[in-house]
Amino acid sequence: MLVTTKEMFADSRKKGYAIVAPDYWDNNSCRTYVETAERLNVPVILSFAQAHSDMLSLEEAYEIGKFYAERAKTPVALHLDHGLDVETVKKAVDMGYTSVMIDASAQPYEVNVARTKEVCEYAHAHGVVVEAELGHVGSGDVITSENMEALHEDKNIYTEVEMAKRFVEETGVDSLAVSIGTSHGLYKGTPVIDFERLHELREALPVPLVLHGGSGSGDDNLERCATEGISKINVFTDFTVEAIKSSKSEDYINWYKLLKDANNAIAAKLEYYFKLFHTGTVE
Ligand code: 13P
Repeated sequence: MLVTTKEMFADSRKKGYAIVAPDYWDNNSCRTYVETAERLNVPVILSFAQAHSDMLSLEEAYEIGKFYAERAKTPVALHLDHGLDVETVKKAVDMGYTSVMIDASAQPYEVNVARTKEVCEYAHAHGVVVEAELGHVGSGDVITSENMEALHEDKNIYTEVEMAKRFVEETGVDSLAVSIGTSHGLYKGTPVIDFERLHELREALPVPLVLHGGSGSGDDNLERCATEGISKINVFTDFTVEAIKSSKSEDYINWYKLLKDANNAIAAKLEYYFKLFHTGTVE
C-alpha cells in the first residue's frame, strides 16, 4: 500500500530501528526493493533521486513506483530524494509522491530555510511530508579518516545542534537529514561517525533523523546509527556495486540472466540491511 512516512517513523522512533530508503533507477530495481520488503514483511521508502533523471524522468519514476507501491501488501512510501529546486519538488507533490526532499544543504542557512519553508507549506497543504538537510553530506572522496577531525570543526559540513533546532522550528520540516560523518558514494577512507553528535541531535530535535550515504559506511556504524537515533538510512551505491559483482562469475552474454542475477544480488543486499537496521515487521 502507498503511504507517507508518518506512521513508519512513529514506529521506528518508538522501537529504535531504521527503515531502508533504497534509491531505484529503473523498473528492475524498484520491483526488487518492493518484493524484498513484502517477503520480509517490513516497510520500505522507495526513493527516486532527481539526479537520476537521465535514467528515468520524474514522471516515469512516479508511475513505476506507484505501480508497485499500490499493489504491495506492506507499507511503501514514494519519496523524491535530493530534490534540487523548489519547482521540481512541487511538481513531485502535484504528481503524487507521498514524501519529498528539498536539498538546499549546500546553500547558506537562510536560503536553506526559505526553500524548505516554501516546500513545507506547499507539501503539507497536499498531505505530503518533507525532508530537508542541514549540514552537508558530501561525496565519499572528500571525507577520509585522515581529514575527519578538521571537517568536524566545519559548521557547513557537520550538523550543529542549536542550528538544527532553529531550522526545524523555522521551517516546519517533518524529518531532517543530518551530517555526522557519512558521505555519498564510495569512500577513500573508513568513515568515523560522531555518535555523540547523533545522541545530542536525537535528544534536541522533535523530528525523525535521516542518514544519507549509507553505502560502505561500516556495518557496526550503521547498526549503531539505526538503533541510536536514526529513523531512515539512504542507500544507493551498494546496490549498484552488488549488481555489477553478480555479473562477474556468470555468462554475461545472456542479458536476461544478467538482469535476473543483478536483481537477486540487490535483493540479498537489501535483506541484509533490513536485518542490520533491525527494521520492525508490519503488524
Ligand atoms: P550512497 O550512494 O552512499 O549509499 O548514498 C545514498 C544516498 O544518500 C541517497 O540519498
